[in-house]
Amino acid sequence: MAGIYIHFPFCKQACTYCNFHFSTSLKNKDVLIESMYREIELRNRFFKNEIIDSIYFGGGSPSLLSAKSLGFFILKIKKLFNVSRLVEITVELNPDDSSTEYLNELKEIEVNRASLGIQSFIEEDLNLMKRAHSSDQAFDSIEKVKSVFKNFSIDLIYGLPNSNLDKWMFNLNTSLIYEPPHISCYALTVEPKTLLKKQIDSGETSLIEESKVEEQYLNMVNYLQKNKYDNYEFSSFAKPGNHSINNNGYWKGKPYLGIGPSAHSFDGNNKRSWNINQNNLYIKSIKENKLPFTEEHLSLKDKFNETIMTGLRTSTGVSLKEIRDKLGNKFADYLEENSKNRILSNDLYWDRGHLHVTKKSKFLSDGIASDLFIIDL
Ligand SMILES: C[S@@+](CC[C@H](N)C(=O)[O-])C[C@H]1O[C@@H](n2cnc3c(N)ncnc32)[C@H](O)[C@@H]1O
Ligand code: SF4
Repeated sequence: MAGIYIHFPFCKQACTYCNFHFSTSLKNKDVLIESMYREIELRNRFFKNEIIDSIYFGGGSPSLLSAKSLGFFILKIKKLFNVSRLVEITVELNPDDSSTEYLNELKEIEVNRASLGIQSFIEEDLNLMKRAHSSDQAFDSIEKVKSVFKNFSIDLIYGLPNSNLDKWMFNLNTSLIYEPPHISCYALTVEPKTLLKKQIDSGETSLIEESKVEEQYLNMVNYLQKNKYDNYEFSSFAKPGNHSINNNGYWKGKPYLGIGPSAHSFDGNNKRSWNINQNNLYIKSIKENKLPFTEEHLSLKDKFNETIMTGLRTSTGVSLKEIRDKLGNKFADYLEENSKNRILSNDLYWDRGHLHVTKKSKFLSDGIASDLFIIDL
């Protein structure tokens, strides 16, 4: 199984925290879309015999595209690739783009999953993040999405400046009223070249203490698990049967093809590539029938480190057998030996041949994983 990710690099306005690739000038929108259609054709031999079980429109804000344009991507993919009858087709929706009419049009072009960027239901938070939507629009859009899509997800951000446990639990409680089949909750990260970074550096805004962010995380995990959500990956929670095929594909190392400026691809083995993240250069390159990507080949060490990083973030954990089979005894023995201290300190544990992070240390998963990385072997 394999996935296709389509990156639409335009947004109405820039949120303070975001450094995904996007432009707020929609000047080149149409010519860029044409180039992306063309890239799909140029990439038609990317997969060998894999069946596509996920098509994901992300961004930027793909909900700025008409349903007709999105539908054209889907038709083209179906024509050129081996697409499963049960394919999951997700569109990331901004609340301010989610009219009932638009949602119904998406359903007509066979989109069967919506991912709604709520971030917070609190007006003060939305203003602080410079989101294009209001609190009223957050409530309104989730009602509309729920009435059109059986399968939908919402994104929320915790650890915001001015946040506290009460406000965060309010956001979670409010979300659960709508019984979303899937919730993604991200800790606010301060990315380079964002307005948030500038605000923090100048003292205009300040972050809350790390221990408070951890408190929000651990309370969220407990609360959502109590409400029958499976915390199947660090930031992802799903009701049974509603894990995202797209997300699972990334964590399980399945191949995926990324279309559009800045989109990443992986061949499922050892080749990773990423498209240029400048719209004009992307358009120019595609016009010349040249694929605008840079490629890297992963060494066994890179693959080991990636497996540890993704595995410790998921509820499946890291399979020792898989490491032994795919990378060899040397890597499996290294993991067994080097995880011992973290097991003694109750940060990690083995369960049926899989290495997991303990509940108490879950928030520190990435740091624990990087301690196990192989730098030289
Ligand atoms: C890049 S956005 C695209 C979706 C859509 N444009 C939106 O804003 O809802 C995908 C998700 O990434 C998350 N995100 C982006 N930057 C982040 C950051 N610096 N910290 C935490 N979450 C972030 C947000 O929750 C957002 O919903
Ligand atoms: S969070 Fe979404 S809407 Fe905001 S700038 Fe990033 S991609 Fe655009």
